[in-house]
Amino acid sequence: MNLILLGAPGAGKGTQAKRLQDTLCIIQLSTGDMLRAEVASGSELGRKAEKLIQAGRLVPDELMIDMIAKRIDRDDCKKGFILDGFPRTVPQASALDRLLAEKKLKIDHVLVLDSDDEALVERITGRFTCVQCGAGYHERFQRPKVDGICDKCGGTKFSRRADDNAETVRARLKTYHEVTTPIIDHYRTKGVVSVVDGMASIDEVTRQLKEVVGK
Ligand code: AP5
Ligand code: MG
Repeated sequence: MNLILLGAPGAGKGTQAKRLQDTLCIIQLSTGDMLRAEVASGSELGRKAEKLIQAGRLVPDELMIDMIAKRIDRDDCKKGFILDGFPRTVPQASALDRLLAEKKLKIDHVLVLDSDDEALVERITGRFTCVQCGAGYHERFQRPKVDGICDKCGGTKFSRRADDNAETVRARLKTYHEVTTPIIDHYRTKGVVSVVDGMASIDEVTRQLKEVVGK
C-alpha cells in the first residue's frame, strides 16, 4: 500500500507516519528528514536547502523530485511507503504520477490531516526529538513516560529543529496554504482523498487513519 500524508506544518504527519509504519509494515519517507540529513552532512544539496528551510520556503521541485525518485527505487520501498512531506506542489504531484505510472504503482490513499493554524504554532514550538532514534515528543501533548529519557530507545539527548520558531512557522504555514493545498484537488479527481480531524488527540487521529486504510 502506498500512502501520502498531507497536512500543514505541525499537523501530525511525522507522528502519524511513524505509527502507520509500525502498523502497516511499510516505510515512512519524510522529505524533511532527508533534507535535514543532507544539511547535517554538509552536502551540496544540504547547503542549498538550509537557507530555504530556515526561511520557511520550499526547496526547488527538480531537486525534490530527483531525491524521491531515487529513494522510491530502494528495496525497502517494495512493500509500500508513506510519503510524509512530498508532494508539496502541483508539479511535484504530477511528477510523482509519472514516476509511479512507469513502475506500475499507484497511490492508494491521500490522508489529509485537517488542522487549525494557531494550534500548530504551539505544537511546533513545543516539539523535541530523540537524537538517538528520532522519536518525536511534545512538551505538553506527548511527554516521555520518564522525563529526560526516550520511551523507545532510552536515549537522554533531545534536539529541536532550527526551523521550529514562531516566525519560520508562520512562513511555512503561508507556503502550505498557497502552494501545497492545491494538490488536494489534484488527488480529489482521482478519488483517493480522505480528510481526518488532525485536531483530535494523537490516538484518535491514528484510529481514524487506520479506519480509512482498513486496518
Ligand atoms: P518538513 O520536515 O516536512 O516539515 P513540515 O511540513 O513543516 O511539517 P512538520 O514536520 O513540522 O510537522 P508534522 O506534520 O510532521 O508534525 P509532527 O508530527 O512532528 O519540512 C521542513 C522543510 O523542508 C520545509 O519547510 C521545506 O523547506 C523543506 N521541504 C520538505 N519537503 C519538501 C518538498 N517536498 N518540497 C520542497 N521543500 C520541502 O507534530 C508536531 C508536534 O505536535 C509534535 O511535537 C507532536 O508530538 C505534536 N502532535 C502531533 N499530533 C498531535 C495531536 N493530534 N495533538 C497534539 N499534539 C500533536
Ligand atoms: Mg514532520
